[in-house]
Amino acid sequence: MPEFKYADETEVRVSQLMTPEYTNFFGNVHGGDVLKMVDNLAYVCCARYSGTVCVTASFDRVDFLQPIHVGELLNLVARIGYVGRSSMEVEIDIFAEDLPTGKIRHTNSCHVTMVSLVDGKPAPVPKLVCRKREDKARFIQAKMRREMGFKYGHDRDLFLKQFSEMDDEELDRKIAEG
Ligand SMILES: CC(C)(COP(=O)(O)OP(=O)(O)OC[C@H]1O[C@@H](n2cnc3c(N)ncnc32)[C@H](O)[C@@H]1OP(=O)(O)O)[C@@H](O)C(=O)NCCC(=O)NCCS
Repeated sequence: MPEFKYADETEVRVSQLMTPEYTNFFGNVHGGDVLKMVDNLAYVCCARYSGTVCVTASFDRVDFLQPIHVGELLNLVARIGYVGRSSMEVEIDIFAEDLPTGKIRHTNSCHVTMVSLVDGKPAPVPKLVCRKREDKARFIQAKMRREMGFKYGHDRDLFLKQFSEMDDEELDRKIAEG
């Protein structure tokens, strides 16, 4: 395994024509199909980076900012933004291209964390070296998301431990706090 890899050399792209089998009940592209493409591309990016088999550990919040239409070409761009010991966070940007006019819309961005496995156990991955300012910014923001995730997990576990001893009055007070 190489000791490190450069963040700016991790980009992977894929394009898929949005044919009618991708539609939802409203005739636009089904979000679940987009998420599957995201997961597959994240896998390609991480397995290539780590040189191992990887599994999806988490999807960060996904906002569908605009609908994607049948007939558009969906272009997905993935890059590794952060690595820990065995985990890698991939940033994926999604662009819908109207082929006749060439007009391109940025429809989504999301972050997927994958974990490298060897013999079924989390295994170390190469360190990520950020040479460009945008890669440094991506790394720092990913670190913030990771720390927020740890804090949420800690606060949730604490709450669930206390939950059985809380009466309804206390629960209602917590709800009213907003
Ligand atoms: C992901 C998985 C391998 C982590 O295993 P684990 O026993 O929790 O391993 P560890 O606690 O040693 O964590 C390993 C790494 O995963 C990260 N991780 C674990 N759970 C995570 C989560 N929910 N979100 C983000 N990162 C996570 C840890 O932070 C750690 O990162 P680091 O090595 O870079 O510091 C395990 O939970 C698993 O196999 N999950 C199912 C994966 C799967 O089947 N995906 C497809 C879903 S259909």
